[in-house]
Amino acid sequence: MKLALFVGTKGRGSNLMAIHHAMQAGKLPGQIVAVIGTRRDAPALERAQQAGIPTQVVAPGEDYEARLLEGLQSAEADTIALAGYLRKLPESVVARFHGRIINVHPALLPSFGGKGMYGHHVHEAVLAHGCKVSGCTVHFVDSEYDTGPIIVQRAIAVQDDDTAETLAQRILPVEHDAYIEALRLLAESRLTLDGRRVRITPSGHE
Ligand code: GRF
Repeated sequence: MKLALFVGTKGRGSNLMAIHHAMQAGKLPGQIVAVIGTRRDAPALERAQQAGIPTQVVAPGEDYEARLLEGLQSAEADTIALAGYLRKLPESVVARFHGRIINVHPALLPSFGGKGMYGHHVHEAVLAHGCKVSGCTVHFVDSEYDTGPIIVQRAIAVQDDDTAETLAQRILPVEHDAYIEALRLLAESRLTLDGRRVRITPSGHE
């Protein structure tokens, strides 16, 4: 798997580093061929650079789609993972990488997803609603926000004294694990789409 990771301007890069470490430790087959961000000063991009992972800055604007496709092609990427990338992916990228783009969301979709539902907004909404569980969802990406077929979900209990910060803190390591698991399933060609349902082939089966 030749993975391109798309990051946003605000993310810390914790998912990208968890994926990088899993690959280095031989727990996830493949390599990160590019971390793509919209601004050079994005913390996630700086973190990747410090770790010696190839980075690219593709700034939105004229020909954004074409420049993104060019960047992906020059890195020879065959898979895309979003990690804190908050924009909609251009249609042509979604089409070119159909079934090979995944995202992690810090709640149990389809609740608490969609435009504007990112970071602390998600956890605040979960608490305001009085939910007793939250968690994370790894899903395929389509051309809408957070609507693609679900690959892996993990739940955790919401505690009475939780704040958006404590909830986010407990969910983050669960996200990392779930993301690595989903990427491993994708790398091992064990995911099959059946409508909205993602079937997982047990390991060892052809
Ligand atoms: C994560 O919470 C993820 O669920 C969301 O964006 C955040 C990125 O965090 N999609 P990080 O930059 O990987 O630490």
